[in-house]
Amino acid sequence: MQDIEFLRHFPFFEHLERHELEAFAALFVTKTVDKGTYLFWENEEGDEMYLIRSGVVEIFRSDEDREIILAIFNAGDFFGEMALLGEERNRSASARTLAKTTLYAVKREHFQELLSGNMTIYFKILNAVMERLRAANEMISDLTITHARTRIARLLLRLSEKRDKSSGEVSLGMKLTHQQLANMTGTVRETVTKVLSEMQNEGLIRIVNREIIICELNRLKKTSGL
Ligand code: CMP
Repeated sequence: MQDIEFLRHFPFFEHLERHELEAFAALFVTKTVDKGTYLFWENEEGDEMYLIRSGVVEIFRSDEDREIILAIFNAGDFFGEMALLGEERNRSASARTLAKTTLYAVKREHFQELLSGNMTIYFKILNAVMERLRAANEMISDLTITHARTRIARLLLRLSEKRDKSSGEVSLGMKLTHQQLANMTGTVRETVTKVLSEMQNEGLIRIVNREIIICELNRLKKTSGL
């Protein structure tokens, strides 16, 4: 893997010297997969973690008739670290691509090599995992809110958190189906369709090519009780 410039800007590696980066880059294998590829399933044993170079990956859990989406990751995110770092080697959730995706994959033994002697990387990963735990806590408390509209509004706000807000409008930067939004908010597709159409009529959001753009962030916050 030769993409040193990408690794340099990846938060875990910002502090490294070029020769260290080059040594690490050699540990990663590039994989490009089509949209809709299942990368792994929950409960199967895992021996790789991934950095996303480009594309979109959905992390989800499912049972016979229900699916819950835990996270959606984009370029610059990582996933699959839990089965490598914890004592539990099984995947805590499944992963599939929502677009053509290029990943940098690193095997367990190489990942551990990368971490040993690099406490800074270790702490950065720990910090990112703690941020995810905070987000999961928020998601759990949001799921207890009775009104689907409030849950959907809060999800849109969470998805907008790291997006550029300089133009006044915030694009979520990904195309999501109503079913996916339902699977992230513990509701059904029909309810999402109804709520999004209400929000569009009220001028809170607009939808262009299936991409949601928040037009009135402050009003959306109010509607979500924040
Ligand atoms: P792993 O358990 O190896 O495989 C599934 C991956 O999904 C997991 O590592 C994490 O990288 C990621 N993951 C699991 N649960 C969550 C969550 N609640 N929020 C964000 N990412 C998660």
